[in-house]
Amino acid sequence: MTGKRILLIIGGGIAAYKIPQLIRLIRGEGWTVSPVLTRAGAEFTTAMTISVLAGEAVHDGLFDIAKEAEIGHIRLTRDADLVVVAPATADLMAKMAQGLADDLASTLLLASDKGVLVAPAMNVRMWNHPATQRNLAVLRADGVAVIGPDEGDMACGEHGPGRMAEPEAIMAAIRARLDTGPLLLEPQAQVARGVLAGRHVIVTSGPTHEPIDPVRYIANRSSGAQGAAIAGALRDQGARVSFVTGPAAVPAPAGVDVIRIETAREMRDAVEAALPADAAVMAAAVADWRVVNAVPRKMKKDGSGRPPTLDLAENPDILAWVSGLDGRRPKLVVGFAAETDDIVAHATAKRLRKGCDWIVANDVSDGTGIMGGTENAVTLIDETGAEEWPRLGKDEVARRLARRIAEALA
Ligand SMILES: Cc1cc2nc3c(=O)[nH]c(=O)nc-3n(C[C@H](O)[C@H](O)[C@H](O)COP(=O)(O)O)c2cc1C
Repeated sequence: MTGKRILLIIGGGIAAYKIPQLIRLIRGEGWTVSPVLTRAGAEFTTAMTISVLAGEAVHDGLFDIAKEAEIGHIRLTRDADLVVVAPATADLMAKMAQGLADDLASTLLLASDKGVLVAPAMNVRMWNHPATQRNLAVLRADGVAVIGPDEGDMACGEHGPGRMAEPEAIMAAIRARLDTGPLLLEPQAQVARGVLAGRHVIVTSGPTHEPIDPVRYIANRSSGAQGAAIAGALRDQGARVSFVTGPAAVPAPAGVDVIRIETAREMRDAVEAALPADAAVMAAAVADWRVVNAVPRKMKKDGSGRPPTLDLAENPDILAWVSGLDGRRPKLVVGFAAETDDIVAHATAKRLRKGCDWIVANDVSDGTGIMGGTENAVTLIDETGAEEWPRLGKDEVARRLARRIAEALA
């Protein structure tokens, strides 16, 4: 990969102090950096430092007539092989998600047909805010690659996810991203190669709908947010993901194979069709029962005042079935246990009963806000015991789980 040109957009965050090191790494490859500094970015690092290290003048004004005549803001994107946004502030991500173009950086991003890699950096509350998470989902769906953020102590004194990935990790992501070739073609090709490259993982997600009649069904409150985040995190680690999802409230992540189903029996069939796999993560909230006397026409009140009787039958236990497969069993089977009391005891018993390798248990009792919310407090249970994780955003739970899966399959 010789002669690559990186268009580097530097946003207004504390992490801008790490950008000189990133520029050194990029130039160390013999590549060229075209630096763009936002107005806020210039509050955190200087145009002088950046331009000296980049060996190229900093581009910072949309209406700079001299430079426009010389190079033109559109050409800046045409000449680039990859656009890297670091630090990607909450504000820059929001602009990108909305398609705003009110300064040079956002205009370049909108005018570009090149691949984009963002390295978010912000306070943990800004990162966990539903607006930022919504913007992140939009960017991912648009094919933008995301590196980080890391979890740890922040400049503001708080702790959590939001620290910009280290320059070495951003550099690795740049290399991987350039390696995947043209970025706007095939969603799966947009994914940077990661430690799960060449692995196939099945993820089930969302609720199932068990029909009563054509307009009514039995369901549950699962939004599918955790399953979608897990599928996205596994994709980010390079896995090929078969995402078998019930009717969820959140969109499926980009870059995974989406198989949409409604009922538990359809989910079981879809999982079977997706085999073989290296791992199966069964995050769906599958209905335990289905209605056996469902009718093809809408049920009407008959005037007697007596409600109809619903006859229920047990649905297939997909987790126990996958765990018990002979020959076709994925090497790692991960189940989920949504509990309201005695979480560890119930989940430990469930792991043994179902025959899966791990159980991710969470407390979904009233008041936790976990079901349908953006955060999760999980306990990971394996044959060695229970490991309680702190309350984290569902994306961060997903990233940790994906890393653990990658280690287990290594
Ligand atoms: C001291 C200080 C530190 C800041 N750090 C961050 C940060 O790390 N991440 C972030 O998203 N915004 C941060 N902000 C807010 C951004 O600078 C602000 O939203 C700005 O408009 C972003 O501009 P940009 O879109 O050019 O990046 C910080 C603001 C101040 C005053």
